[in-house]
Order: sequence, then structure tokens, then C-alpha cells
Amino acid sequence: MIDISVSNVSKEFEVGNRILDGLTFQVDTGERVGLLGKNGAGKTTLFRILTGELEPDEGQVSTASGKRVGLISQIPVYPVGYTVDRVLRSAFDRLKELEREMTFLAGRMEQGEDETALLKRYDALAAAFESGGGYDTETALNKVCNGLDIPGEMRERQFSDLSGGEKTRVNLGRLILEDTDVLLLDEPTNHLDLRATEWLEEYLARFKGTVLTISHDRYFLDKVVNRVIELENGKAEFYAGNYSFYVEEKERRYEEKLKQYEKEQAKIEQLQAAADKLHLWAFMGNDKLHKRAFSMEKRIERLRKTDKPKKDRKLEIRFGEREFRGDEVMVIKDLKKSFGARTLFDHVDLEVEGGERIALLGDNGTGKSTLIKLILGEEEPDSGKIRLGPTVRLGYLPQIIHFSYP
Ligand SMILES: Nc1ncnc2c1ncn2[C@@H]1O[C@H](COP(=O)(O)OP(=O)(O)O)[C@@H](O)[C@H]1O
Ligand SMILES: [Mg+2]
Repeated sequence: MIDISVSNVSKEFEVGNRILDGLTFQVDTGERVGLLGKNGAGKTTLFRILTGELEPDEGQVSTASGKRVGLISQIPVYPVGYTVDRVLRSAFDRLKELEREMTFLAGRMEQGEDETALLKRYDALAAAFESGGGYDTETALNKVCNGLDIPGEMRERQFSDLSGGEKTRVNLGRLILEDTDVLLLDEPTNHLDLRATEWLEEYLARFKGTVLTISHDRYFLDKVVNRVIELENGKAEFYAGNYSFYVEEKERRYEEKLKQYEKEQAKIEQLQAAADKLHLWAFMGNDKLHKRAFSMEKRIERLRKTDKPKKDRKLEIRFGEREFRGDEVMVIKDLKKSFGARTLFDHVDLEVEGGERIALLGDNGTGKSTLIKLILGEEEPDSGKIRLGPTVRLGYLPQIIHFSYP
């Protein structure tokens, strides 16, 4: 069964610059689709069109009737004053609505109305309420809060006061509680730590519905999707596999196109040389040959079918390798840091040599950023030492960048 159908959809925000240019595709029930494309390729725009938030200039989108579509957006917005708990519980709005109507009908029946239509309506509502988990909302809420690490204390806080990562977790939790058939996920792992990402991967593996996800996280994509749609210059390319398949297949298509292009070019060169010769002979007396040369040139134009395939430029960064001489870059000895009564870490030893690439892993709040700040000298250790090599210069990209205005 088809869950999402996109037919010939175009969208532009500035005249003449089509962000989406005649997109057509379908997504079947239960499919897991990764939506790829560079920043600004129109992925979020396509999602907004799918939810009806935005109208396409041309074409249509439709979702299977009766199916509920849920979106987790890159930038969630909730009314001011909403607590985290309120945001989470807004997932049950639909159930609350059912409950209200059931109470209303029950009231009417108590008053003595006993039309069959009334009873029938009540039964239908009660069935929908039960199958939607109406009697089990608290259990569901607690499960999701455990999985996504949303403790009771956090549920009391204002949603707007949360950090980016916390907002993503809450928003994701709300969406999961909403009991949707089609999930649209816009870069869901952006602010998630490893544990929450894994929890989401497992949740999606068990999820019965359809998933369409935008992501730059190749490991997440490999786990979750079995089909890839790539947006480029407003058009879509399709790949029937996960991210690793996409990478290989894209390379294969590139090579194939390049071969095709080179073959064409060789043929064109050959014909052009022949046409040039004909023109020359025509000048030397045989005027009729011009006509043949011109028709040959027309044929050449028709041959130009394949554009030269382009390859994405890879980002090449070199961190001044020549300055690393394989000697000591940093030594950490017996480092301890605590805030008040809470010890983040103790007895940390580490030696870093030139050229090493190191990932610092750990759950939220375990002190990763604090360790970085200690290395930078922005925080003082309680005990222990950090020593940097004499020629070491540091570059630092913080989690949140603050710009100061003059
Ligand atoms: N409401 C809007 N008004 C004007 N331009 C927009 C609007 N929304 C998106 N765009 C532009 O459309 C392009 C695609 O944006 P977007 O869909 O957010 O890309 P992606 O999600 O793939 O990074 C970008 O150039 C963006 O600046
Ligand atoms: Mg986007």
C-alpha cells in the first residue's frame, strides 16, 4: 500500500530558482527511506510540503487516508510557558479529545437518550481510545522518558529553557508517544548522545509504520533505512539500499556515466574531424561537400546527450601535519575534577602523541566538555596535571558558539 505519494512537485522561493523541480516518487507502507542532499537542497522544504505546512507551486502530495503523519522538525516551536511535561502530554491531545466526546455521549445516555446511533458512536470512540493506548498513557510516558533520558526534574522545567539536545529528546519523545503511522524525522540524531541514538535506532527497528528521515549521520542511516532518495538540483535520484549501498552505487553510476560521456566524446571528435575534412575539400572545389559536412555536424549535435558528470568536491582538511613530529603532544596525569560534592572524574591518565585522532565518548553530564575546558585552561583541576608540548597550538570548536556584538 502506498503511504506517501509525491507527484511532479515543484517549489521555488525566488523566481527562477527551483528548489524542487518536478519530484515524483512514492513510499510504501513500512518502508524506511533516507532523504539525502547537501544543505539547502530542499529536504526540509519537502518535509514541510508533506505535512501540508507549505504549498507546492506545482504538483501534488498525498498521504494514505486515515494515516497519521508525525514530524520531528529541526527547530521545534511550542507556545511560551509550556513545561516539558506539557509538551510530552500534548502527544495525547487526540486521545483527550476522544475522551471528552465519550464523556459527553455518556452524559446524554444517562439523561435517557438511547438512540442506536449514539451507542454506535460511543462504541467506536471507546475502541479507538483503547487501541490508541488511552488507558495506558502513564506507562508509555514513563517508558519513553527512561529511554530518552528525560528525568522527572527535567519534566518540570520550561521547554524553552532546555538545551538543543534536551529539546530534541523531548520532541522525539512526544512524537513517539503520539502513535503515528508515518514518521518524518528531520535530522533526529543531531543533538542526541550515543545512548539516545541507539535507543532511537532500536525504537525504529520495532516501529511498524513508515519512516522518512533526513540525516547526515551515516551510521544511523545504515541502521535505519533500506532505501535512499537523494535531492540534487531539485531532482531526485533513487537507491534501493542503505547508506553503504548508496555510496557504492553512486560511485558506480558516476563511472558508468563518465564512460558513456567519454565514448560520446570520442565519437564526436571522430565525426568532427571528418566534417572538417569535407569542408576543406569543398573549399578546394567540390562545393557539394559542404552540404554533407553540415548534415554531419547536425548529427554531432544530436550525439551530445550526456553532460560531463561532476563529482562532489571532498572536504580536505590538513591539520598542519608537518608540525607533528610524533613526539609528545599532551600528557594528563592523575587528573581530578569535581563540582561541589559531585566528582566528575578522578585518576585520569592520558598520553597523546602527534597525529593521533581521538574521540571522547560518554553520556551527557559525564564531563566531556569539562575535560576540554581543563585542557584549554578555562577550568582548574582539583588535582593532577595537564602538560602540553611546547609547539602545540590549540584549535577549539565549542558546542555552542556565542557571537559578541560590538
Ligand atoms: N520560507 C522560505 N523562504 C525563502 N527561502 C526559503 C524558505 N525556506 C527555505 N528556503 C530556501 O530554500 C532552500 C532549501 O532549504 P531547505 O529545504 O531548508 O534545505 P535543506 O533542509 O535541504 O538543508 C534554501 O536555499 C533555503 O534558503
Ligand atoms: Mg534542513
